[in-house]
Amino acid sequence: MKKSKLERAVIFVTGGAGFIGSNFIRYMFKNTAFKGKIINYDKLTYAGNLANLEDVAQKYGKTRYVFVKGDICDYKKVFHTLKKHAVTIIVHFAAESHVDRSICGPKDFIETNVHGTFTLLEAVRALWLCSPDKRQATDNKQSYYRFHHVSTDEVYGSLGGTGSFSETTPYDPRSPYSASKAASDHIVRAYFHTYGLAVTISNCSNNYGPYHYPEKLIPLLILNALEGKSLPVYGDGKNVRDWLYVEDHCCAVWEILRKGRPGETYNVGGNCEMKNMDVVHAVCRRLELARPAAANPALKGRKYADLVTFVKDRPGHDRRYAINASKIKRELGWKPAHDFEGGLKAAVQWYLENGGWVKKIKDASYALWLKKNYRRR
Ligand code: NAD
Ligand code: TYD
Repeated sequence: MKKSKLERAVIFVTGGAGFIGSNFIRYMFKNTAFKGKIINYDKLTYAGNLANLEDVAQKYGKTRYVFVKGDICDYKKVFHTLKKHAVTIIVHFAAESHVDRSICGPKDFIETNVHGTFTLLEAVRALWLCSPDKRQATDNKQSYYRFHHVSTDEVYGSLGGTGSFSETTPYDPRSPYSASKAASDHIVRAYFHTYGLAVTISNCSNNYGPYHYPEKLIPLLILNALEGKSLPVYGDGKNVRDWLYVEDHCCAVWEILRKGRPGETYNVGGNCEMKNMDVVHAVCRRLELARPAAANPALKGRKYADLVTFVKDRPGHDRRYAINASKIKRELGWKPAHDFEGGLKAAVQWYLENGGWVKKIKDASYALWLKKNYRRR
């Protein structure tokens, strides 16, 4: 993509109030040469919170950052927002993202991840491909327009003891979450092949870092441990995930926007395979250094590691994920800048210093829960 056009573009970020989306928006303003405008389009589900972007809104709110509360399934609202702001780049993070929730209730996953992605694509097709700029939207060499779809390594299914996922690994999703993401990836690719829409896709491994919603493993461990609550380990704790510090993921997406080729998929990973039990112990060790259990009254004389509790396994729990990220390294020069020890140290420190954020997130979730349950009565 032409550098000057990208750097001054209007970027429509879906799900920008969530974990990775909010880190991405902050990264764009703080760490890149981007000088354009970002429209953060988010429904603010339980996982989306404007507390994730208070600093950004304060600094850029009057000039280069706009928040729009909206659902990606709402065609009219998406279309009008894209048109009003003359958007030329979309970075699509919005999704229902938690595997356990998808097992309890898959409907929202199909609605947002599949129907929502389709709706976005339809709005973009109507605007970009039916506009007088049509030629640019479909010019694969130097496309001014871009639809970047953020996806997961979970679409590839579960690995045995060896091997890793490459961009050509056949899809084999197992959970309602990964199946819905797989469906959305296929639809996005279809818009490239059928309509010539300039799309790129990234399939990334497990992220961790600041603003991570505390239902996911690493923030759950940190916050439960600090409160002296149990650290639930599913099954035998030997399932393997490939962990990536969230800022490295944001950097990968930016590199794909800058240099990625339309129609291409890029796998993004931390080259950091770990068994869940090893992650649990690493978090406990890090907390013992940063805030020793002996000095934490909630622990009542126990060590953090004493809180580990094996619980019933997740149904259909994928055994192992591992990403082969050699394509993005070879073609775009991206590789992770953080190793797990460094990333975890930063993440733990962030949670220790941001008790106010944790309280806001927990209070907001409780308020949402109350509202939902009140409606059901
Ligand atoms: P998240 O759950 O923290 O945030 C999702 C955001 O999307 C929230 O702000 C939510 O309000 C918003 N949203 C949900 N439904 C919406 C709708 N219908 N319309 C508009 N906004 C809606 O998720 P995350 O962990 O930040 O993940 C972001 C993306 O990255 C997802 O597409 C996910 O599949 C993908 N991904 C995540 C990981 C990970 O480890 N978290 C790894 C690889 C890929
Ligand atoms: P999670 O953070 O939910 O991400 P994903 O399911 O997308 O990989 O879980 C990461 C791993 O940790 C996964 O193997 C399930 C496991 N896990 C636990 O053992 N205990 C927990 O409380 C949670 C939330 C996850």
